[in-house]
Amino acid sequence: MINSFDFLLPTKIRYGTGIIQVLGEELKLLNAKNVMVITDKVLAKTEMAERLAGLIQKEGIRFIMYDGIEANPKDYNVEACAEKAREESIDTLVAFGGGSPIDAAKAVAVLARQGGKVRSYQGKGKIKDDCLPLLTIPTTAGTGSEVTFSSVITDTEERFKFTIKSTAIAAKTAIIDPELTLTVPPLITAATGIDALTHAIEGYTANCTEPIAEAVGLYAVEYIAKNIVEAVRNGSNLEARDKMMMGSLLAGLSFSHADVASVHCMAEALGSIYDAPHGMCNAILLPYVMEYSLPAAEHKYARIARAMGIDETNDSKAAVKGIELIRQLSQEIGLPGIKSLNVSPDDFELLAEMSVKNGSNDSNPRAITRDGYVMLFNQAYQG
Ligand SMILES: [Fe+2]
Repeated sequence: MINSFDFLLPTKIRYGTGIIQVLGEELKLLNAKNVMVITDKVLAKTEMAERLAGLIQKEGIRFIMYDGIEANPKDYNVEACAEKAREESIDTLVAFGGGSPIDAAKAVAVLARQGGKVRSYQGKGKIKDDCLPLLTIPTTAGTGSEVTFSSVITDTEERFKFTIKSTAIAAKTAIIDPELTLTVPPLITAATGIDALTHAIEGYTANCTEPIAEAVGLYAVEYIAKNIVEAVRNGSNLEARDKMMMGSLLAGLSFSHADVASVHCMAEALGSIYDAPHGMCNAILLPYVMEYSLPAAEHKYARIARAMGIDETNDSKAAVKGIELIRQLSQEIGLPGIKSLNVSPDDFELLAEMSVKNGSNDSNPRAITRDGYVMLFNQAYQG
């Protein structure tokens, strides 16, 4: 029997090459009159940002650009941005960028209306429905944050990444245009692409998953695994970019309706302590966590392997080959090992402690303890 579940998708998705053109139209539908575009310093200076500004101005909508969001968005980034939004009486937010500006904007949407410190909203269900309306425009194929209900923010005092989870922070509208990813550099394409693959695999195999999340997760694996190498090597290949963007979107739908699991628990711990790029952390850890989880997820890992193109009917052989292929893919697209993050084995106990406390720890298909995480960090370190 299938367990009962709810499936809610509060975000209107507008997908396609060149679809960014509808930005003004969609903002008007949200009744936007005074917009804040939330982004980072690099994107704010691009031609894409100019184009965005033009599309908003064309509709006679007032807007300001806020470019103060850092990677692994910090609590103070969110609080300063929300303060600015209140000062300027902003009525609508546009998140423009990768996962960092989008996650930050979701938290700003809460704080601008409900006030307080961002950490006080940690966990599920701490948010009232009254949030600023948000429109998301992803510029990487990886995060899925444009359609998810979570925002991951770094508590800089405790050096801990925490998650705010509520359908109230989901974007009202997501404009997903693969053309916006054409200029993403190879290493970022690689790291964000493996982040998306991790979302797909963890969403498909999470203990709390359901058939819709499984279906989109498995389809996402196929899109991503078959196109990531081409998207990294030949970034101007729009077809590969298109399929990566769709893979990332489907993976986002999968894990937001299921959960992520131990790869993200460990990656978020690494991100908190070393401010390390999220996708890179996932890429390093994914094969080790899969090897550990294999006894509890063999059939699903076999299906993942087949979705990646492995022709093997025996489940246990297919699952092992699939993990090996993921390892190869990471190497082929130039993602470095854990030592590139200047990780110290002295921190493994602390990192394991943080991983086990992560809200997604219970979602891993095979239960894992603090000692289990120490073992996995050691395995990843030894390579
Ligand atoms: Fe992720």
